[in-house]
Amino acid sequence: MKKTFYFILGIMLLVSGCKSEARTGSGKPLAIIPAPVSFTELSGNFAFTEKSRIILSPFNNETKLAADFLCQLVKNPTGWNPEVTEGKKPVKGSIFMTMDTAVRNNEGYILTVTPKNIIIQAKSAVGIFYAVQTLRQLMPVEVENQKVIEGINLIVPACYIKDEPRFAYRGMHLDVGRHMFPVEYVKRYIDMIAMHKMNTFHWHLTEDQGWRIEIKKYLKLTEIGAFRKETIVGHPGKKPYVFDGKRYGGFYTQDEVKEIVAYAASKFVTIIPEIEMPGHAMGALASYPELSCTGGPFEVFTRWGVVDDVYCAGKEATFNFLEDVLSEVIDLFPGKYIHIGGDECPKARWEKCPLCQKRMKDEGLKDEHELQSYFIQRIEKFLVSKGRKIIGWDEILEGGLAPEATVMSWRGTSGGIAAAKQKHDVIMTPNKYVYLDYYQCEPEGQPLAIGGYLPLERVYSYNPMPSELTPEEQKYILGIQGNVWTEYIPTPEHMEYMAFPRAFAIAETGWTPDRLKDFDDFLSRLEILKKRYDAIGINYFKGEYRDTRGNTK
Ligand code: ACM
Ligand code: ZN
Repeated sequence: MKKTFYFILGIMLLVSGCKSEARTGSGKPLAIIPAPVSFTELSGNFAFTEKSRIILSPFNNETKLAADFLCQLVKNPTGWNPEVTEGKKPVKGSIFMTMDTAVRNNEGYILTVTPKNIIIQAKSAVGIFYAVQTLRQLMPVEVENQKVIEGINLIVPACYIKDEPRFAYRGMHLDVGRHMFPVEYVKRYIDMIAMHKMNTFHWHLTEDQGWRIEIKKYLKLTEIGAFRKETIVGHPGKKPYVFDGKRYGGFYTQDEVKEIVAYAASKFVTIIPEIEMPGHAMGALASYPELSCTGGPFEVFTRWGVVDDVYCAGKEATFNFLEDVLSEVIDLFPGKYIHIGGDECPKARWEKCPLCQKRMKDEGLKDEHELQSYFIQRIEKFLVSKGRKIIGWDEILEGGLAPEATVMSWRGTSGGIAAAKQKHDVIMTPNKYVYLDYYQCEPEGQPLAIGGYLPLERVYSYNPMPSELTPEEQKYILGIQGNVWTEYIPTPEHMEYMAFPRAFAIAETGWTPDRLKDFDDFLSRLEILKKRYDAIGINYFKGEYRDTRGNTK
């Protein structure tokens, strides 16, 4: 008797303690990334049929987006076109999506799958969309590509999931300045962000090596600034420099930008455009050298690194230009944030420039750091007058933070901690944990990267909430972002290779409560989801995911 009891208990523990090995009645393994806050398996499956319809309460443009996304998933392998209607109640065999005040978090949801129907409750349409993203990961992998499969059994295992994000900001960045990526790949990047319940795409659009966004008032930005005559081969630390001799460049037209912004919105992803200033501006200065301290002439930079020539902070023309550029940017991007860069701005030119020095004297600024702060504060004033907020890299702390600035902490976490203590919002993006241009395994045999060593396990280990902060200060930590700088990432395939699956670990850190994070469990879910990534055609990294150097805390 006792033996039987322990046997049953053992089986129960085995089933409940082994999240990644959860299986449906049909023996299908379950895998959701990011891991939901709570998951209960129920018995049986829901089976989609040709008659399955989606009932929305209410039916509006936003809830319809979530419904349409599910329709497409159903349609891909079956060819069926589920009807989408408005209704107040679930009906047998249907998928009922309802706005429900029982869910308190704006992005949270409750997903109930039974053999009878599927019910999604959420506070908002984005919560419904995230429930569909969860449902998607529970559906057969065949929903991922548009190939009708005769007789496919489109089932979802019965379950009850209650879920909400840990952080409000969950983002991924992409540098298109050093290398450019076609519109279709930018969209696919957004798809991957949305699939893993991240809500922000930080689009780094201007650089020393190329200006990538069409500005109608300043056409030279893309006629001249979007192209470099050649590109360095290898690291710039290695001399003599070797160049490839090939002209490189391109840009996104405003129509393409609008297309990408609309696409992102359809996936509930907000885009934060970054227009770099006062440094990393050679794309602009090669086009309009009069905006620099020396007057140039300049070339779009052909090497990697930091350039001494930056926008002149003493000239009114600089601010007129940037306000014009930002006005067009504001019209293209509806989100509340505009990223103004602020990182790595050498002060060498400002120290020698009579106009910059006059500005410092006139404004009572004690050094060039305060001049940079003046620059950023002036731009912030302009953007705030247009109803926007600025984000800057953590160098914007130097010389004094602009009053309403949000800080992206990239040189470790100390900038983020300092900003939170000053009651400024913070996004954690420390290079040693989330810079996805770093090597993801031992460098030998890998394509050349900037350096570093950042295996998946280490990315996963990061907790963005600094224990140094009081609970009151911790409220300023909005979330986490992964960055993909592309000096050494020339093609879309290579970009995906560096970004994935490390971005999925960042997504889980942003969403899943810390107490539920478990790297081994994450890895087993990843193994299952790989079939899905393969079906989508993502070129993710398949090598060693563990930190073989033992750096992971
Ligand atoms: C940065 O990596 N320079 C923000
Ligand atoms: Zn100057």
